[in-house]
Amino acid sequence: MLLEFVLQKPREWLLAHETDPLTPEISAQFLTLAAQRRQGVPMAHLIGWREFMGHRFEVNAAVLIPRPETELLVEVALVSLAGLSTPAVLDMGTGSGIVAISLALARPDARITATDVSEEALAVAQRNAQALSARAQWWQGSWFEALPQEANFNVIVSNPPYIAANDDHLLQGDLRFEPVQALTDGQDGLSALQVIIQGAGSRLVSGGSLWLEHGYDQAEAVSQLLTLNGFKTVQTHVDLANLPRVTGGVWA
Ligand SMILES: C[S@@+](CC[C@H](N)C(=O)[O-])C[C@H]1O[C@@H](n2cnc3c(N)ncnc32)[C@H](O)[C@@H]1O
Repeated sequence: MLLEFVLQKPREWLLAHETDPLTPEISAQFLTLAAQRRQGVPMAHLIGWREFMGHRFEVNAAVLIPRPETELLVEVALVSLAGLSTPAVLDMGTGSGIVAISLALARPDARITATDVSEEALAVAQRNAQALSARAQWWQGSWFEALPQEANFNVIVSNPPYIAANDDHLLQGDLRFEPVQALTDGQDGLSALQVIIQGAGSRLVSGGSLWLEHGYDQAEAVSQLLTLNGFKTVQTHVDLANLPRVTGGVWA
């Protein structure tokens, strides 16, 4: 992958030219990147992109690297949007914009709004939207404070920071290189989920739904919070690893 990147050639080309010598510049570039990779720098940071829902998204150190399990959040939201014409959709904590943009591309009639507290993340999301010809409105600010007062939605989705501040995983692997505010709420992992659940009712139309990605061990807590805050038909969906990953409910 690194060789594909430095040569700017696809894998098939590399296979057909496997005995071609490398120029000293390419060789030096490759060795520098390989050394960074050995030190743990994520591949997505070295090559500058990651694929999600079949699209290539720009990624840098200002955003979470897209995770395959987040595709479930998009798929579940699309089911909720089926049958609605020109629905209004909100993605909170959009990061690189993968969820908002994937929804916009799958449902070009939808009116997509996306927020993030990070200006740098929103800049990445906007570049991704432009590169993929997706339309959305972008607002910067903390959770619901980012939104104009009158905005209401048919579906709200979020993959908020849900790792507890004392979780050792934060010190391992790719997570060491990702923005801390994209990973943890700085508390027990549930506080951002709780803020979103508590605020979502006043931003959903009647019959609208809220879907949240969460940790594998948070489904029960998230279900309880949804029920406590007046959501009906609370359901959890499992990801490809069979882990409970996305929970949501209907605002009746
Ligand atoms: C887990 S990342 C998800 C990013 C993207 N949606 C994805 O699935 O790859 C959480 C995102 O929430 C944002 N965030 C953290 N605190 C926030 C807050 N108080 N208000 C809005 N967004 C926040 C972070 O900047 C980050 O982009």
